Amino acid sequence: MITRLGCAPPSPADCQTFDPADVFAAGEQNHHISNTAYPIAHRETFWPYRIAREAHRATVESAFEGIDELCLYSHIPFCETRCFFCEYTVVGRRELDATEEYMAALDRELLLYRELLGPRRLYGLDIGGGTPSFPAADLIARHLQNVTDNFAISADFSVSIETTPKIASLEPDKIRAYKAMGIDRISMGVQVTQPDLLKTLGREENGLEHHYRATENIRRAGFTKFNIDLMYGFADQSAESWAATLAHAIALEPEYITLYRMRYKLTRISHQAERVTLTHAREHARVAKEKLAAAGYRANPGKNTYTRVANDTDCHGGQGSARDTTSHPAPTGTSAYLTRRVIQGMPYLGLGLGAQSFTHSTISYNSGAVGKNLSPYLRDIEKGILPIQDLYHLSSAHMMAKMIAVSFYFGEINLSAFREKFAIDLESAYPAAVDYLLQQGLMHYTESENGAELEGRDKRSLSLTELGAKHFNGSIALFFAPSVQDYLIRRNLPDYAHAPL
Ligand SMILES: C[S@@+](CC[C@H](N)C(=O)[O-])C[C@H]1O[C@@H](n2cnc3c(N)ncnc32)[C@H](O)[C@@H]1O
Ligand code: SF4
Repeated sequence: MITRLGCAPPSPADCQTFDPADVFAAGEQNHHISNTAYPIAHRETFWPYRIAREAHRATVESAFEGIDELCLYSHIPFCETRCFFCEYTVVGRRELDATEEYMAALDRELLLYRELLGPRRLYGLDIGGGTPSFPAADLIARHLQNVTDNFAISADFSVSIETTPKIASLEPDKIRAYKAMGIDRISMGVQVTQPDLLKTLGREENGLEHHYRATENIRRAGFTKFNIDLMYGFADQSAESWAATLAHAIALEPEYITLYRMRYKLTRISHQAERVTLTHAREHARVAKEKLAAAGYRANPGKNTYTRVANDTDCHGGQGSARDTTSHPAPTGTSAYLTRRVIQGMPYLGLGLGAQSFTHSTISYNSGAVGKNLSPYLRDIEKGILPIQDLYHLSSAHMMAKMIAVSFYFGEINLSAFREKFAIDLESAYPAAVDYLLQQGLMHYTESENGAELEGRDKRSLSLTELGAKHFNGSIALFFAPSVQDYLIRRNLPDYAHAPL
């Protein structure tokens, strides 16, 4: 019988404690990296928890033991060109003709996990990238069929896919095929609209000329869950050009708009990070909130997906409003896969190049994340072995930090979901941090609006206030594991040589 893997004992670096005020200040100072992309400096902070390759299969098997409910992510790493700002695992032009081979490998990986884990219940599937709309639609349909054939599918299972404006505009048949095969949410990356900026970012092929036709094709295909991604915090993005981008996205009338603050780590334009101050980024976030609210889109403080609401008065509901969310819970605007991860810390399996998986005690990254080429991944699949490059059996401090970092996508940590996952109250796990955040007015207790996904659980959450959302980077750092907090604090010392991020 396989026994479920508990968390690992903490490394010496994870046995330290720091003054919350110092951690908060270090998070604010390191605002470019103190965000939802956890961990930071993994070579230093995760390394003590690394599992040798020979033990990968047995560790994965026991880490998934007893986990009956999962989300699934399938990574499609092809893009016609690589945008200079992109942080994702994307392969170069010379591998663009390998889509059939890659999609066959992805289906084979799915079967490797089915053989190892047996049937599990699936709550959501995200087909992301890269550009998942780059391969032929029948390859996506076959993958989706394999997923539904090999997992137990929950009643509210739903599938989301990403596209670029160019593909959605020029290939309407693909968009129609997605809807016909059962995909019900689609997300399009508009990012920015200023032609000069698009050029500087290497993304001029996805300019304004495609946006209207793309939107029309998405609507004609029957999608009613349409999200647009926008990006801010670029060095050469003025407040006016950001406001114009927002106005353009609003005019396309998507149900949801998701805002990404540019994360420079490991991108081609990482050298520009120092030109973007916290004040600059905060001003962009403020302008966005104001313009989106005026257009009827709302999000709780700290949440980056805005939802268009039918009733204008709801836009100003805010935290603690008398809005009745039990009878009409606000749609989260995110995919089922992400929503379950954020609200419940639900374990997920990531398939494909560089994909990440998360259980209650491990995090792993598939082959290809570093080299950004297909060969190591395809080789592993050919040999019939799990294509894992790095597997970490982590301490509870890191597992909690990862769950909370993801919860910050919605600006709140649901107390019952945390307790259920880690068998401890949030306040007992982080006594000093919670006290500090409450006392400084950065977080407060609220009733979560995510009624449907909490399914009978207690809805109380610890949520960011407006002030906390403004100090997002400092607030989130209070939940990081001690080794990561230590790294952030030391990073500001004058003679400290930075470890790789
Ligand atoms: C996986 S990407 C794929 C979207 C699709 N391929 C496209 O370009 O339209 C998902 C989203 O991540 C965001 N993103 C990409 N690079 C980022 C970075 N360095 N920092 C923050 N967000 C980023 C973009 O808004 C993008 O739309
Ligand atoms: S932003 Fe999208 S299209 Fe651009 S490189 Fe990244 S995944 Fe590809």
